[in-house]
Amino acid sequence: MARKILAAGNWKMNMTPTEAKTLITELVEKCKGAKNDVLVCPPLVDLPAVLEIAKGTNVKVGAQNFYYMDKGAYTGEVSADMLKDLGVEYVIIGHSERREYFSETDEIINKKVTKALEKGLIPVLCCGESLQQREDNVTFDFIRTQIKIALRGVSKEDMTKIVIAYEPIWAIGTGKVATSEQANEVCADIRNCLAAIYDQETADRTTILYGGSVNKDCAAELFAMSDIDGGLVGGASLKSEDFSIIANA
Ligand code: 13P
Repeated sequence: MARKILAAGNWKMNMTPTEAKTLITELVEKCKGAKNDVLVCPPLVDLPAVLEIAKGTNVKVGAQNFYYMDKGAYTGEVSADMLKDLGVEYVIIGHSERREYFSETDEIINKKVTKALEKGLIPVLCCGESLQQREDNVTFDFIRTQIKIALRGVSKEDMTKIVIAYEPIWAIGTGKVATSEQANEVCADIRNCLAAIYDQETADRTTILYGGSVNKDCAAELFAMSDIDGGLVGGASLKSEDFSIIANA
C-alpha cells in the first residue's frame, strides 16, 4: 500500500525570522533531492519569510497551531483562514506541549481538526503517552482514546487527508528515542484503531509518523518499520545538515 512518506520538522519556539531565513535557505538546498515529502513548521512570525523562500521547492510549510474559531475577539490567536491566505498547507494539532502548557483537551483538538479540514489545511494530529502511562500499561487505551475523540465527526474521505504523529512524551526532547519496535507497535495499533473507526483501506492509506528524539543516526531504522511512515522531528530539525539526512532517510 503506497502511503505518503513525510519528514516533518517542528521548530517549536525557536528561530527568529532572521535565523529562520538562513535555516530554510540551507534546508531547501540540502533537501532538493529528497524522495519523500519534506515539511517544516516554524513559529507563526517566521511563516511569511519561510513561505517566500520555500515557494516552488519540494519543502512544504506548516504552522504549529491555530485557533478553531473563524474570526473575532480572540486576542492573540490566529485563524485557519489567515494561515491559508499566507499559503500554509499543514498545521500541527494536539502536540503534547500544547496539551500540557496550554491546557488543550481532546475536545479542543477535535474542534481544531474539523476546522482545519473545513478550511483545507492538512492536520498533523499528535498523540502519545507519558512515562507513567507506559509503566501503567495503558498506552494503547490512552492513545486510542486520544485518536477517537480527536477524529469525532471526521468523515472517511477527510481521514485520508490527515497525518497522524505518534510522539511518546517520555521521548520528546529527552534524547531517549523509542526503540523501532516500541514505536512501530504503537503506530500499528493506531492503524488498527483507524481500521475499526473507518475501514482497513483508510487505515492503510494513512501516513503515521513517529516523533521523539529522532536524529540523523536513528531515522533510517525507524522509517524502515512497517507502520512508521516518517518522522516529526524537533531538535534535529533546527540543524540543516541533520534534518536533511533525516529527510533523505
Ligand atoms: P524532539 O525531536 O526534540 O524530541 O521533539 C519531538 C517533537 O516534539 C516534535 O514535535
